[in-house]
Amino acid sequence: MKTFPTSAAWCLGILFISVSLITTGSSEVQVVGPADPVVALAGDDIILPCSLKPSVSAEDMVVKWTRVNLTTGNNVHRCRQGRVSNEDQSTSYKGRTSMFNEDLKNGNVSLKLTRVTLSDAGSYRCFIPTLTSQVKETTVQLFPLQHTSHTSKPPTLSHCLCPNIPTTCCSVLIFLLPTVDS
Ligand SMILES: *[C@@H]1O[C@H](CO)[C@@H](O)[C@H](O)[C@H]1NC(C)=O
Ligand SMILES: *[C@@H]1O[C@H](CO)[C@@H](O)[C@H](O)[C@H]1NC(C)=O
Repeated sequence: MKTFPTSAAWCLGILFISVSLITTGSSEVQVVGPADPVVALAGDDIILPCSLKPSVSAEDMVVKWTRVNLTTGNNVHRCRQGRVSNEDQSTSYKGRTSMFNEDLKNGNVSLKLTRVTLSDAGSYRCFIPTLTSQVKETTVQLFPLQHTSHTSKPPTLSHCLCPNIPTTCCSVLIFLLPTVDS
């Protein structure tokens, strides 16, 4: 078996390279966001996901949530060492933002936004300036949708019972029905 030492060397070499790739990869903490945009109905409360990978604690970090491509009013939420630091927060987000303080230790730096409005549509940047790694920010897209329930009313009882006569007449008929029966 003359080839054995050569293949063994190859194996070891490949193993060594993979192990070093894995270890260098995991020592680098990255900010990761969702693969897909967040879609929500206007008026709903939503979560813009963002986390650290691997999941190291963010309790001692500065986390900045900002709007991308807005020249003014782009500060959405800021957290400094686990404390809210929203002195220069955009007025349109006042009282609507929070983070999951009890989950910061797991690297969860997601933003909760309550009562989403159509003007919240856009790109949000989750940025951790204190990270030393290459990937210290990610962008999350938010697509709020208009509620459509008020435009497509469910059919009324009178529509079902008598579709061909005016609704008011039908209502009178329905009102009279029990008395006719008795
Ligand atoms: C962060 O925590 C919140 C609340 O526990 C949870 O709903 C959300 O899925 C978490 N996000 C991530 C990325 O772990
Ligand atoms: C922000 O604006 C720049 C140019 O001003 C553009 O290249 C980029 O795609 C925009 N980003 C988003 C998320 O809209």
